[in-house]
Amino acid sequence: MVLPDDPKYALKKVEEIREMVDNDLGFQQAPLMCYSRTKTLLFISNDKKVIGCLIAEHIQWGYRVIEEKVPEISSENEKVIFERQKAWCCSTSPEPAICGISRIWVFSMMRRKKIASRMIECLRSNFIYGSYLSKEEIAFSDPTPDGKLFATQYCGTGQFLVYNFLNGQSRL
Ligand code: COA
Repeated sequence: MVLPDDPKYALKKVEEIREMVDNDLGFQQAPLMCYSRTKTLLFISNDKKVIGCLIAEHIQWGYRVIEEKVPEISSENEKVIFERQKAWCCSTSPEPAICGISRIWVFSMMRRKKIASRMIECLRSNFIYGSYLSKEEIAFSDPTPDGKLFATQYCGTGQFLVYNFLNGQSRL
């Protein structure tokens, strides 16, 4: 975990990784973030490569995703295709939240090995000293289709919390 007060070389490395992750996520311009309040988790492989990254920040509010019914006859594969293609909507009523997942990324060749799940578990026990965050206290920033499929599975519901809305600071 890299914290805002860590040595400059560590923060520089985090910045390089974030740029790479943003490129992969297709963010053209890095949105301004308040770095003094972020915590970055890096998942390092045995051969010392960064294969996962999670950037978390303190937030106050999240908005619940409004779940759209998947057509009933769909196979698992069809459900994934449906999930990838549809837009997502969320409630306009804010709900209290504590931790915002600003970025979550796993190297493409290492996906579906529970690396993202392990990073979130680690985040939940380390974000606030001495407490373990519940899934209800976490929100995802502008989830991608992959992010949405992951969050739905991890949170055990498609109605997880989201925030930010492409840096609009959740002003709806
Ligand atoms: N399609 C369908 N289900 C998915 C999924 C996908 N692409 N990714 C995760 N899941 C679900 C699965 O149920 C999975 O369990 P299973 O593999 O046993 O079926 C479960 O979530 C846990 O996934 P996990 O292995 O912990 O996730 P991961 O390490 O593969 O990382 C992402 C998930 C989203 C971080 C990864 O796909 C990624 O880096 N994508 C590109 C960046 C991105 O879009 N980030 C999200 C920003 S909100």
